[in-house]
Amino acid sequence: PHLSAILVGADGASETYVASKIKNCKEVGFESSLFRFPDTVTEAELLDKINSINNDSSIDGLLVQLPLPKHISVQRITETISPEKDVDGFHPLNQGRMVQNLPCYLPATPYGIMLMLEHEGITTAGKHCVVIGRSNIVGMPMSILMSRNADPGNATVTLCHSRSTDLSAITRTADILIAAIGKPRFVTSDMVKEGAVVIDVGIIRIEDSSTKSGYRITGDVDFENVAPKCSYISPVPGGVGLMTIVGLLKNTLRAAKGEVKFSF
Ligand code: GUN
Repeated sequence: PHLSAILVGADGASETYVASKIKNCKEVGFESSLFRFPDTVTEAELLDKINSINNDSSIDGLLVQLPLPKHISVQRITETISPEKDVDGFHPLNQGRMVQNLPCYLPATPYGIMLMLEHEGITTAGKHCVVIGRSNIVGMPMSILMSRNADPGNATVTLCHSRSTDLSAITRTADILIAAIGKPRFVTSDMVKEGAVVIDVGIIRIEDSSTKSGYRITGDVDFENVAPKCSYISPVPGGVGLMTIVGLLKNTLRAAKGEVKFSF
């Protein structure tokens, strides 16, 4: 399997994510290639590169690391990637198939979370799953996957967002709480039901002069105070971030096997 990544600009977090994806490809014996562009790159140049990768039969999977500079349309980039190489699962054809429970690439983070639930043998059927955050990358697909007629899945899902009123009253009813908001330690212990399963999707850099890099990574959940109430909780770092890579690698393997076809 061969994964290609396109990285635009020099955003510190994006650099770290892409480096980790490339390193993990090497670890499992996949080929990888990284194409870097300055943040002054034009949209036309990026689209050209994507088209040439689409037509390169030696490359199985392609991701364009987000965010992109403002002058580039994420929609145009996402829709130009061949859906058969779209191992991020962001193309509307993949997202549409996901909604209908048809063969597709699932977005890596929600896919990784489903694998995590499966691996731990956590029952989701009939449970109340509350997702906080409705992004196209995590919250929205997560709510779809948890409500699908599948295992894991079959949960009753509530999708909360910035306009939800009395968020705590909703989260306190969650058997499974998935936080994907990007606000450090936003979920506090008073928001969590005793015995809940808590999954923390946040990866936020906060300044910390005591570390070599000058920052440390924290999640969306106030881990120390929430953990004692939980039956399961995923840590940050070392939780969902790792599973995202697993989801991406599994998608890349499926792409190499030609498992998702869009032309009949
Ligand atoms: N930026 C934040 N998460 C992701 C991801 O899963 N894929 C890509 N391409 N960019 C991201």
